[in-house]
Amino acid sequence: MVAPLPSPAPPHSPYHPDEKVGEVFLSADVIARRVKELGAEITRDYEGQELLLISILRGAVFFMADLARAIDLPLEMDFLAISSYLQEHTETGKKAIRFLKDLDKPVKDKNVLVVEDIVDTGLTLHYILRSLSQRRPRSLEVCTLFDRPHQRLADMDLRYRGFTVSDDFFVGYGFDYRQLFRNIPYVAYLRLEPQQPTLF
Ligand code: PRP
Repeated sequence: MVAPLPSPAPPHSPYHPDEKVGEVFLSADVIARRVKELGAEITRDYEGQELLLISILRGAVFFMADLARAIDLPLEMDFLAISSYLQEHTETGKKAIRFLKDLDKPVKDKNVLVVEDIVDTGLTLHYILRSLSQRRPRSLEVCTLFDRPHQRLADMDLRYRGFTVSDDFFVGYGFDYRQLFRNIPYVAYLRLEPQQPTLF
């Protein structure tokens, strides 16, 4: 069987000196517009109530910082840190997940909105939602910047989503390659050289 050819890398971003940063996928303006829309929708839905935003370190903090400023409600923020690695036959499917940092405060009786940068398989979020729901919040919803639904292994309801995306890898606006490029203010395609065959 002939291996499929790798798809051509998107051209190098004219705005960024590192050649791993490919063509712009979403400009800072497009992201800002969508974040404002989401903020307005959330403000309407929770009118007259307080909200607790929870984000999972690290990628989602850029989105959460902007989203929080687009929401016109009394609002608190808290953070979770997890470690996850791929593993077969675990309780959560293929990912072994554990908390490295738990929330600073209880969520009981609060309106909790989990803010994610991307939901892919959904296994991370599934684990987190299960843990949070056991703490008896008043409500528990999700707002994700990117949704990659065709990768989903754990079914869940995402109340707010910014963009539905394909299988491409991205950098910028929180998305990293080996911890770099999170601070680029737009989202670009990650541009990697096709793997060279190993010579023995
Ligand atoms: C990303 C993202 C989610 C998770 C989604 O985190 O922030 O937490 O992957 O994947 P899943 O739906 O397949 O479980 P990542 O591990 O890249 O860490 P980061 O936020 O520090 O970049």
